[in-house]
Order: sequence, then structure tokens, then C-alpha cells
Amino acid sequence: MLELKNINYSVFDENINKDILKNINLTFKENKTYVITGPNGSGKSTLSKIIMGILSPASGQVFFNGKDITNLSIDERANNSISYAFQKPITFKGLKVRELLDVASNKKNTFDQLCDYLSIVGLCAKEYINRPLNDKLSGGELKRIELAMVLSRNSKLNIFDEPEAGIDLWSFEQLTKIFSTLKNSCNIIVSHQKKILEIADEIILLNNGQVQKMGKLEEILPLLENNTCHKLRGDKNE
Ligand SMILES: Nc1ncnc2c1ncn2[C@@H]1O[C@H](COP(=O)(O)OP(=O)(O)O)[C@@H](O)[C@H]1O
Ligand SMILES: [Mg+2]
Repeated sequence: MLELKNINYSVFDENINKDILKNINLTFKENKTYVITGPNGSGKSTLSKIIMGILSPASGQVFFNGKDITNLSIDERANNSISYAFQKPITFKGLKVRELLDVASNKKNTFDQLCDYLSIVGLCAKEYINRPLNDKLSGGELKRIELAMVLSRNSKLNIFDEPEAGIDLWSFEQLTKIFSTLKNSCNIIVSHQKKILEIADEIILLNNGQVQKMGKLEEILPLLENNTCHKLRGDKNE
């Protein structure tokens, strides 16, 4: 359903060209859950933004259901049934929670429907639907609202960048339960949490902008435990 071919991404920073992603080739299948993991700065957010079209690769192609979407905008990808939840949610200033959910799901939701979406993420609709999206909401509340927004869209492909970040007060079990019940979509979750790694059909381990390994939990875990910096170990190719 999703194919990344020879994806490269670099930035020009402090007068040097920095390669952030190097030759990424990955295939994601329909109705499977993938977790992208790896050290801070390994390129996880960059990769997930390239899939959503928030960033454009320097070279390489993104295929979705056989169609080359490399040059499609974020909106066009959203219309093609791809949804995205940011590591740091944006606040869509001026909208209320109910308006955000209506825009996201492209319909006028009833109170009961809003209640369904919000209660999945542990929020009471009565308290939240008329709240404006602004900095009075905590990081954790915004994260949950964004998650509700993605779920309300019922997309074929969902991308979640570190959904656990900032929700420490909320039952972590509930979050993993949500992901384990998402069976009618392909889900790509960026995460460091073992509990989330456990629900993945496959795990992608990124290291220094490259795919170190794609495989099942038992193949990836030993690598995570030994994952010291390649540069420090003096590995080749660094
Ligand atoms: N615009 C940018 N300018 C300079 N460096 C960047 C830029 N965007 C990302 N990076 C660097 O690219 C690397 C990968 O970033 P990111 O994809 O956010 O990593 P992760 O999500 O795995 O922590 C990091 O070292 C980050 O500092
Ligand atoms: Mg990140």
C-alpha cells in the first residue's frame, strides 16, 4: 500500500550539507501496524513527514496504492486517505474542538459521535467540545485531541509521531489498546515504548538516517539493547 523508494533527505545547516535520511527503501502493507524506532535524531520524524508530504525528499519516490504521490501536497494526500498526528501537536488557533473534529472527519458530527471519538482518547465530550484550541489546553490534552482527530478520519493510512509524548498522566494502557484495535488501516507509529513495539506487526529500526533493520520484535530488541552510537564504536560507513 505504501512504498518508499530510495528516499534521501538533506539540509544545509551552518554551511554544511547534512544528510538526514540516506537511501531509505521500505514497503508497508495494508491493515498492518508498523513501529518506527531508533535513537533521537535518527530521522524518524523526518521520515514520517516525508510520507505525509510535510517535507519533500531530495530524491526518491513515495508510492501509495501504486500511485506516485511524491509531488502531492499534504491536502491531496489527506484526500487520498492519509492522516498524520504530530510529535508536537499544532493548535489550529481559532477552532473549537468540535469544529476541528467536524473539519477532520468532513461531516457534522452529532454529540454522540463526538463523545465516541473523545472518550476513546479518555476525554469527556461535555467538557471539551466547546473548548477553543489554544495554549490553555495542556500538551497532553492537545495530544489526545489530535489523536481523536486522526481516529475520526478513518483513513487507510495513519501516521503517529511519538503519540505517547506528554500523555504520562493518562493511562498508557489505553493508548496501546487504541492502536491494537486499529485493524482496518495501515498504521505507522513512531515510538520508543516497548509496549507499543509489542503491538507492531513489524518494527523498523532507524539509525543515523538509515534503516538498520526491519523485523519482528524479537529480532529488533537485542539491537536496541546494544545500540550504542556507531560513531563511538568506530563502525565503517560513518
Ligand atoms: N531543518 C533542519 N536543520 C538542521 N538539522 C535538522 C533539520 N531537520 C532535522 N534536522 C536534524 O536531522 C536529524 C533527524 O531529525 P528527526 O527526524 O527530527 O529525528 P528523530 O525524530 O528521529 O528524533 C536530527 O539530527 C536533527 O537535528
Ligand atoms: Mg522525532
